Amino acid sequence: MTHDTIAVIDFGGQYAHLIATKVRRLGVRAEIRQPEDPLESYEGVRGIVISGSPSLSAYGEDSDYNRSIYDLDVPILGFCFGHQEIAKHYGGTVVHGGREWGHAELHLTVDDHPLFRGLGPVEPVWMSHYDSVTALGPDFEELGYTSTGAGGEHRLAAIGSDRLRRYGFQYHPEVDDTVNGERMIANFVFEICGCRATWSMDGVLDEIVEEVRRRVGERSVFLLASGGVDSTVAAAVLGRALGPERVHLLHIDNGLMRKDESRQVLALFERLGLDRHLHFEDASETFLSALDGVIEPERKRRVIGDTFVEVFQRKARELGIEDHLLGQGTIYPDTVETGGTKRADVIKTHHNRVPVIEAMIEQGRVVEPLADLYKVEVRELGERLGIPHEALWRHPFPGPGLGVRLLCSNGVPDRDGLDAMGPGLAEAEARFGLRALPLPIRSVGVKADLRAYEHPVLLVGDAPWATVLEAVGWITAQVPGVNRCVLHLGGDAPTEPRPLAAGVTRARLDLLREADALVMDGLRRHGLYDEVWQCPTVLVPLCLGADGGETVVVRPIRSQRAMTATPVRLPDALVEELLRDVLTLPGVSAVLLDVTSKPPGTIEWE
Ligand code: XMP
Repeated sequence: MTHDTIAVIDFGGQYAHLIATKVRRLGVRAEIRQPEDPLESYEGVRGIVISGSPSLSAYGEDSDYNRSIYDLDVPILGFCFGHQEIAKHYGGTVVHGGREWGHAELHLTVDDHPLFRGLGPVEPVWMSHYDSVTALGPDFEELGYTSTGAGGEHRLAAIGSDRLRRYGFQYHPEVDDTVNGERMIANFVFEICGCRATWSMDGVLDEIVEEVRRRVGERSVFLLASGGVDSTVAAAVLGRALGPERVHLLHIDNGLMRKDESRQVLALFERLGLDRHLHFEDASETFLSALDGVIEPERKRRVIGDTFVEVFQRKARELGIEDHLLGQGTIYPDTVETGGTKRADVIKTHHNRVPVIEAMIEQGRVVEPLADLYKVEVRELGERLGIPHEALWRHPFPGPGLGVRLLCSNGVPDRDGLDAMGPGLAEAEARFGLRALPLPIRSVGVKADLRAYEHPVLLVGDAPWATVLEAVGWITAQVPGVNRCVLHLGGDAPTEPRPLAAGVTRARLDLLREADALVMDGLRRHGLYDEVWQCPTVLVPLCLGADGGETVVVRPIRSQRAMTATPVRLPDALVEELLRDVLTLPGVSAVLLDVTSKPPGTIEWE
């Protein structure tokens, strides 16, 4: 069936995806378009949303996009930057200034406008903008205003032209702080664009199954099954469409998996009845020897990626299945982010879109049954396919696995820049009543959209959580060369922290696996597993005292889509249990809690 579709123009990665997800939750298909996409790509859409942008300004001339969308006879609604662009295009004025940030009250100035149907005269909304619309073109009218500026000035917060079917919201209806934002989006989608709600996962599952059958015909499909949510659901969809006989699964143990993980992954596929051709390759030795002596983080990542391709190709040849179609669990944001290289804030070359795979896609040899779906939709589909809750709601786990959580060192302290931190850290100590020690190692972070390796600062002392967070914010902003702070939970008291020479070894990986399992069990025991979005446990070859073992860092965070993250406070009882259990692991002498948000820290340490 064809679904009524709303196109969301992507001027800023995460906003556009959030809007598209909200539209889909209403039962209407939403697709992302890039600003430069040709007019033909809008054929058949029932409406267009222009997303906000974290960096573009509608005031200057830096906003480059295909303006012929305004010639289309479909409703267009802009948020924030999009609102300003629409105002400007139709003869209004946009100026630098009039910044509003955070909560505001939208006062509606029209009665019973379809865009605001069912809403009160004053609605809480969320603002984040520097430029403002100060005058409207001839066809437009004010639909709502805010008066939150310094002098309480009147600001055009919602505008529209019913004749042209063009509308703009200065605020962000897609974020939760705009309490009735979803209703506003629904009003646009249904009342203004006249869409029908047909996008439901029941229907979508049937359509995907049909499509897979059509694409695959009589052939078979081969899929790498990591145990992650996407590849697991993809495998189940393929099983539903083709039957277990034509689905070949390969699970590779790269030696960087969690404790007992490969066994659990295999058991899951057996339980799903997908074990007709379930292949398992224990390639841990191959990976470990490839990683022998590799210390530098980005090289480690590359070695892991290359080895994976090697193992996978060799195994496929051995199994005689290299002629099968390749199945992949690629989901919608994976495909969009790779295309939208110009603007998305953080772009990783997605492993489903490396050159070998691109070439196979060109030849029509790749099946990606989930390529149109968002993660929430994939999980919903997974539920319908009988995949157990724990498998569907697993924390995300990076492709290079524990490889990015097992820090390595040649044992030489990295003191570059530490001296320059002295005065700043002394001031932080005085301000926040915590000791602040720069560590002679580095971990990755993001500053101004760039990944960079900088020093963590160790905080020691008893302070309320709010003070700790304040200290982290202050230090990472004021002290040069710091991208991360860790809080000392227990173990060796820090006297003279120094790195220990350590590489990727099975023994260290086993130690990290044990520590990670203790942390994961702890989160489950305390009912925190689902609330915490992800919680890397990191083994750092850093000895805090004069002599002793390595340091374990626990990094629980909350996040939506991994673009940003905030640290999570663990309950005292859990901290006590973790200290008791983790510190008894041979070779571990200290436990730290990562208390950094992203940015400036990343979720992973490498
Ligand atoms: P960062 O560390 O960049 O991580 O804040 C954001 C999200 O991406 C995951 N991650 C990776 N996933 N290959 C992956 O498949 C990688 O190399 C990789 N590095 C980070 C990370 O776990 C988090 O969910």
